[in-house]
Amino acid sequence: MTKIAIEEAEAKDIEVLNEIEKECFAEQAFPKSFLKYLILYPNSIFLKARIDGKIVGFIAGVLQSPHRVGRIYTLDVKPEFRRRGIASKLLQTLEVEFKNMGIAFSILEVEATNTAALVLYQKFGYRPVRVLKNYYGKNRHGLQMVKNLV
Ligand SMILES: CC(C)(COP(=O)(O)OP(=O)(O)OC[C@H]1O[C@@H](n2cnc3c(N)ncnc32)[C@H](O)[C@@H]1OP(=O)(O)O)[C@@H](O)C(=O)NCCC(=O)NCCS
Repeated sequence: MTKIAIEEAEAKDIEVLNEIEKECFAEQAFPKSFLKYLILYPNSIFLKARIDGKIVGFIAGVLQSPHRVGRIYTLDVKPEFRRRGIASKLLQTLEVEFKNMGIAFSILEVEATNTAALVLYQKFGYRPVRVLKNYYGKNRHGLQMVKNLV
């Protein structure tokens, strides 16, 4: 099987990361400026996945201490590289980093119709705790999901 390398993202990756974000989320994509902020912000963990040197996905999480919460902002895998365990490896690595930093809970928001993400997060032990009405636009509801890391 092809090796998936997980590494810290760097400012020089921004163009590729921005293209992947647009590919994954279309009009709901975070702006490039926000992705760049997440890469540079000292309290965030921004990891990229590479296959054969090419960036194929990423995850970004922010430490919301002193509350011991880590919040996942985005998780993206290029369409042609899905169902190969890339998101799982990114999520698993981020959770280990959260734990190493003393984070007790990992939280995230996901659109209620996003089956792929919901199945993935449930598999990882995330549980829905709150419905976020119209979070993604009119009649596009979100779910907040939480996992206890300790
Ligand atoms: C959600 C997403 C990140 C999953 O990435 P991925 O690399 O394909 O995920 P993995 O290969 O690690 O999948 C792990 C498990 O999640 C579940 N899963 C993933 N995609 C799925 C799908 N389309 N339908 C049902 N279950 C799915 C499966 O249980 C899968 O295990 P399996 O392949 O052994 O059956 C990817 O589809 C994506 O980038 N989507 C667009 C962006 C997005 O929605 N991000 C999450 C926002 S909160």
